[in-house]
Amino acid sequence: MIIALNNKCNLTKEKFIEYQEELQKIKTDMTLILCPTNVFIGEINSPTMEVGAQNVSCTECGAYTGEVSSSQLKSMGVKYCIVGHSERRKYQHEKDDEINKKVKLLLNQEITPIICVGEEKEDRENNNQNKVIIKELEEDLKELTEEEKKKVIIAYEPIWAIGTGLTPSNNEIEEIINLIKHYLPNTKVLYGGSANENNIEELKEISSIDGYLLGGLSLKPEKLDIFLKKIKN
Ligand code: PGA
Repeated sequence: MIIALNNKCNLTKEKFIEYQEELQKIKTDMTLILCPTNVFIGEINSPTMEVGAQNVSCTECGAYTGEVSSSQLKSMGVKYCIVGHSERRKYQHEKDDEINKKVKLLLNQEITPIICVGEEKEDRENNNQNKVIIKELEEDLKELTEEEKKKVIIAYEPIWAIGTGLTPSNNEIEEIINLIKHYLPNTKVLYGGSANENNIEELKEISSIDGYLLGGLSLKPEKLDIFLKKIKN
């Protein structure tokens, strides 16, 4: 099981250090990927955590003020990078062709992209969710070889479920996970969107889920510990 912790734009350096101490108390054999704000990546010092990033530049190194390139992430020990999160698609107007460039640059550096796809509430109301997801996959993975496709991780995150406390039904989640796995047979698929210590008992009934991308819960180590224990029991 893969558990990616998306801290988003939270914590200050002191708080991040305290937070990490709390995270270290969690004992688990699952792969935990910590994705803090970029400036804290160098502060990750846990042998049990994989180092992740929340974004990468769609350009190589050069005169791109404010950007962080895939080779720079690599040089900081980053193994995984979230790409195309809906918050970036919405607030930074990130488009699928940029996401596609980012995926390719990450793969060149042997960093695993965690590509986020998901539908808006309106798409689901109009029963367009499958179309939306397939279009994102087609565009985000454009020109990748079959071998490269095996190396990415997909996170299914219905946009209307992120940070809202709402989740799709298990059948609805399962349908999308199966759709993604049909399109990408050898790819791991995570679920993200208000997954927490209260709904994990129900979510874990979906056997095709390979892990979770956690936002709000990632910032609460004690609840995260309960969540991880419930997955096991
Ligand atoms: P959430 O966020 O767990 O707070 O809903 C998930 C995400 O945005 O990756």
